[in-house]
Amino acid sequence: MEKCKHCGKPYKPNNPNFLKMLSAELQEKLKYIPDCDCLEKEKQAEYDRLERQRVQDCIKGKLKTFRDISIIDEKFLKSTFDNADMSTKVMKLSKSYADAFIKKGTAPVGLFFHGTVGTGKTFASACISNALTKANMTVMVLSIGLYINKIQREWAEAENDILKHVKECDLLIIDDLGVEKVSEFVKDKVFMLIDTRYRTEKPVIVTTNLVLTNAELTTAEELKAQLSIESRFGSRISDRLAEMCQDYTVTGKSWRGTDTKRKFSDFIRGL
Ligand SMILES: Nc1ncnc2c1ncn2[C@@H]1O[C@H](COP(=O)(O)OP(=O)(O)OP(=O)(O)O)[C@@H](O)[C@H]1O
Ligand SMILES: [Mg+2]
Ligand SMILES: [Zn+2]
Repeated sequence: MEKCKHCGKPYKPNNPNFLKMLSAELQEKLKYIPDCDCLEKEKQAEYDRLERQRVQDCIKGKLKTFRDISIIDEKFLKSTFDNADMSTKVMKLSKSYADAFIKKGTAPVGLFFHGTVGTGKTFASACISNALTKANMTVMVLSIGLYINKIQREWAEAENDILKHVKECDLLIIDDLGVEKVSEFVKDKVFMLIDTRYRTEKPVIVTTNLVLTNAELTTAEELKAQLSIESRFGSRISDRLAEMCQDYTVTGKSWRGTDTKRKFSDFIRGL
């Protein structure tokens, strides 16, 4: 007798009263039927998969419409672990983070990448972003400057629209938090943004030249220049970020210029 190809349970005889109503050909075909719910389960799993895909496609379509607040450009899209210099600590950490994120489908905490200019903070988050997108996850990349500009121009409608996606996406990346002049308006809007994400309990990656808290500022000059998230945006924002993110200092010298040097020497050597 036939067996279920999933669990191996033998088929059972079909209900004779039901069989009577069928043509001879169908009676023969349906004489024995599965005695388990493996087929239903398989169908349900396929349905769930398609539904997830549909939601993803929908979010992806929407995220494309946020080009004007995002920093995703050619350079960003070309930043992948495959063609990066993987010798630095931040790149190794980022690769492990992306791998675990893809395996688990999410991450319990995000990352707070801070460090001086050109050390590769944006690059590392771009590599994470591209790895996740390749695995069909949704990533929203937001430049605070462009975001503030947009909601100043278009007001509440744009803000609500964007915040909706801030809630939905698998990973939110906020690039370069804190380079701008921080007015009360900006403080308010950044708080709304961070708090919206905070409530979803989903991860955020922040890149910035600032440290998180005032306690990390050592010299009077640093304090005066307000080189912390806390001093510029207030402790309601720095507290939330401290809870949401693994704090990580990106060190090393600036990468900027190494590529320029190579391009120049290639150029004059006629390559
Ligand atoms: N691991 C790496 N492999 C190859 N290129 C890298 C790597 N890290 C950074 N770069 C390159 O170095 C340059 C500077 O990196 P990036 O823009 O990420 O710096 P940043 O820390 O975000 O600087 P800023 O604070 O000014 O925003 C970029 O052109 C980037 O492509
Ligand atoms: Mg950057
Ligand atoms: Zn079965």
